[in-house]
Amino acid sequence: MTGKVVLLTGASQGIGRAAAEIFAAAGYRLALVARNGETLAALAENLAPAQVLSLPADITAPNAPREIVARTVEHFGTVDILINNAGIGVYGKTHTASPADLAQVMAVNFFAPVQLMQAVIPHMQAHGGGLIINVSSIIGKRATPLAGGYCASKAALEHIVESMRVELAAENIRFSTLYPGVTRTDFAAHTLGEPQRAGRVQGVSAERVARKLLKVAKKEPRDAYVTLFDRVFVTGSHLFPSLFDWLLARYFG
Ligand SMILES: NC(=O)c1ccc[n+]([C@@H]2O[C@H](COP(=O)([O-])OP(=O)(O)OC[C@H]3O[C@@H](n4cnc5c(N)ncnc54)[C@H](OP(=O)(O)O)[C@@H]3O)[C@@H](O)[C@H]2O)c1
Repeated sequence: MTGKVVLLTGASQGIGRAAAEIFAAAGYRLALVARNGETLAALAENLAPAQVLSLPADITAPNAPREIVARTVEHFGTVDILINNAGIGVYGKTHTASPADLAQVMAVNFFAPVQLMQAVIPHMQAHGGGLIINVSSIIGKRATPLAGGYCASKAALEHIVESMRVELAAENIRFSTLYPGVTRTDFAAHTLGEPQRAGRVQGVSAERVARKLLKVAKKEPRDAYVTLFDRVFVTGSHLFPSLFDWLLARYFG
């Protein structure tokens, strides 16, 4: 039992909910964030006797990241690990994507996580260090058709983390990124953009991704993947970008 304090966003469903259950069982203390307060409260009850603080909030609201961190520190005295997991997608041809949808996907997947990191880092510095885990996607590493805005938001987060990792290494602020592939959650139903969605693709369970998140929290790798396929997709697409252009055009064509 670690007793470490984890601040986890997107905890009401999908990967975040599975992670809340797995981290609670492993003895972490949890501050859980999502917009749906009722679901969060019910989850917190289910997780008893784990110590859980529910923080219903829209992470894109002005000042929300600062307040989320302040309330977590007020309640638990510290934040050992921030997990930026909340995220949304945007689907459809990128050149016709609405500016509002692109702005929203950047707000949830990029600006809010950045603001959460900016809010939590001073506390981590004051406590001798901390770990920040961002939940990205394999398509943040190699963009696919019809998801340009989403892929860009995840890639942007990866790049800002690359800067911060070096800037803050001497102060023991560590960064890990998990790159899941397709995962069976309601993510597609929450995706912005064109109403027609990509056909249902088989994927791994949210629990499997959450178990990997727990491993990441313990081992702190720079980058982590859930399946061998995900790793091969990313490595192969970097070695043979034009081949992957061709493969993706055939797959999505
Ligand atoms: N599912 C996949 O295939 C897949 C693949 C690779 C990566 N990922 C990444 O994994 C992460 C989790 O995705 P998921 O599949 O678990 O999605 P999900 O089932 O749709 O869950 C998304 C979570 O984010 C929360 N959320 C969304 N917007 C929010 C906002 N503005 N403020 C606060 N919370 C917000 C939602 O809670 P409320 O609605 O209650 O706010 C929910 O708890 C995301 O970052 C996603 O990009 C998913």
